[in-house]
Amino acid sequence: MCGIVGYIGSRPAVDVLVRGLRRLEYRGYDSAGVAFFRDSRIEIRKAEGKLENVERLLNGAIEGHADATCGIGHTRWATHGKPTTQNAHPHQTGHVVIVHNGIIENYQELKKEIIGRGGHPKSETDSELFGFLVYEEMEKGLGLVEAVRASFRHVQGACSVVVLSEKEPGLVVGVRNGSPLVAARDPKGGTILASDAQPLLEYTREVIFLEQGDMAVASSGELRIVSLETGKELEREAARLDWSPEKLDKQGFPHYMLKEIHEQPGALVDTLNGLLERASTAPFPLAEQPGARLLDSAREIHLVACGSSWHAAQVGKYWLERWARIPVSVDLASEFRYRAPVLGQGAVVLGISQSGETADTLAVVRQMKALGIRTLGITNVRGSTLSREADAVFYTSAGPEIGVAATKTFTAQLLVLLLLAGYLGLRRGADPQGAIPPLFEQLVRVPHLLADFLGSEAMASAREAAAALAASKGFFFIGRGYSFPVALEGALKLKEIAYIHAEGYAAGELKHGPIAMIDEGMAVVVLAPRDGWRDKTVSNLEEVKARGARILGVGAADDHALASLCDHWVPLPAAVRPLDECLLPFLLTPLLQLFSYEIAIRKGTDVDKPRNLAKSVTVE
Ligand code: M6R
Repeated sequence: MCGIVGYIGSRPAVDVLVRGLRRLEYRGYDSAGVAFFRDSRIEIRKAEGKLENVERLLNGAIEGHADATCGIGHTRWATHGKPTTQNAHPHQTGHVVIVHNGIIENYQELKKEIIGRGGHPKSETDSELFGFLVYEEMEKGLGLVEAVRASFRHVQGACSVVVLSEKEPGLVVGVRNGSPLVAARDPKGGTILASDAQPLLEYTREVIFLEQGDMAVASSGELRIVSLETGKELEREAARLDWSPEKLDKQGFPHYMLKEIHEQPGALVDTLNGLLERASTAPFPLAEQPGARLLDSAREIHLVACGSSWHAAQVGKYWLERWARIPVSVDLASEFRYRAPVLGQGAVVLGISQSGETADTLAVVRQMKALGIRTLGITNVRGSTLSREADAVFYTSAGPEIGVAATKTFTAQLLVLLLLAGYLGLRRGADPQGAIPPLFEQLVRVPHLLADFLGSEAMASAREAAAALAASKGFFFIGRGYSFPVALEGALKLKEIAYIHAEGYAAGELKHGPIAMIDEGMAVVVLAPRDGWRDKTVSNLEEVKARGARILGVGAADDHALASLCDHWVPLPAAVRPLDECLLPFLLTPLLQLFSYEIAIRKGTDVDKPRNLAKSVTVE
């Protein structure tokens, strides 16, 4: 998604902007640009492709622009118009320069009107039109702040903008009207604005998450928050963030994704610590969480999410059904919002989104709230829209995830879902056999087991298998039970970072069509741990093996019968054996993440920023 940075203060603005845009690169982009004041004129440098191309236009010497102390910057992820330099932001209309994140839905009408009034948009974007509107309002005599407010009256759709004008050189005006925008006072004087908090953390931990309809009006001396609708000044408290800048660096790993795969044990521990009552000796002590209290009276749960979060929801369904004996549905947010779902009395809708900004998931939460249905969220980002709009929220504490592919946020989401399943199972008296307390004892050991697992022979075997299978023309990932959604997630990882066609399938479904695809060029990753489904999965393995596929099997280290059927073999260590089968997704998922990573680096793809993808999908 597009990323925005704005700055006014005493620091060299171009440096602040470029560093800020680097922090936003993880969101995915295809062109970039900066605009900065030189005396009272605005200069723009923008280019197709990576940020380096913009730095080159700055002659590689950001210091050469040290006298500029006010500017705006942007990374663009194309929605309207190709990813060209012409379409890159910032856009200039006369003395007005803007950057924009989001979509202007009525852009075609606006464009006609602007052209009818003699305007000549230079780009194919919807964004540029906003600059025309501001320019026209200023030409009618309004100041910049009022012109921005007036322009929003003509615009439909969710977006954020940051605007400069040569007529008011000491001012940066930012608006959140949908897509997120955050602001912070620079301790050295001045203000920095951005699409998320990461560019701000180098300078301060005190961040204001602008609310829908907030305008940030920043001069070098002050930051005011003003209502877009009324123009009146608003009080907004800064939140203190605990993400240190060091956490944002790679710490010796070649890619963020690999670092984040290895951070999973810590992310699980931090998530447990963040949610459980530490003083309690009871299993699954979640009762103090406002969200848990809201779930107490739930009679059915609807899990709604996109992408990897949807896969986490699928695992969550198995757990909630097994442990809490409560009806659960799982839906893609983009489908649910346009269906006519039937929700019963006591329904709770739980939106899952690591970013907390995914447009479709947020839309479902808003729709349900409007219908009076209780909503919950699971998110990794404090202050995100989901965290503020759901009735209550459970935070994962995975820390910042920079790689576009979800890794540690996924396993942290799994953890929250299992905590909810165990908590609700006890609450609802759904555990006559007393299996939930021992499950909790095992669960708290999972981070340690995972840390060992990540350094074990199993990972070395996964690396070898990746090297051997990297040239396969396509992959199936198959499993049953808990391993089925893990297989879906494994296939998604391979597609998104290695650009190889991969399908995740319930092993029992293969013979209903996809088995026709199997031949010698195909690889099949078979998840067959020693669980209640193992024998059935092995039968499905035999079916694909008989048709020539190369098999990578994952199973118990002492499952020699299974190992002998596989071309490549990843043994799950003996230490895993005592675990309840429902905990295996915490180990199998990181294994598949690493497998995809190893294939991707062999293919030389941009692992942390795969093509066409964005970290935070704020458009539907
Ligand atoms: O921020 P969210 O969890 O709502 O994001 C949902 C998907 O966009 C996300 O999981 C996406 O599928 C990832 N790239 C997967 O690695």
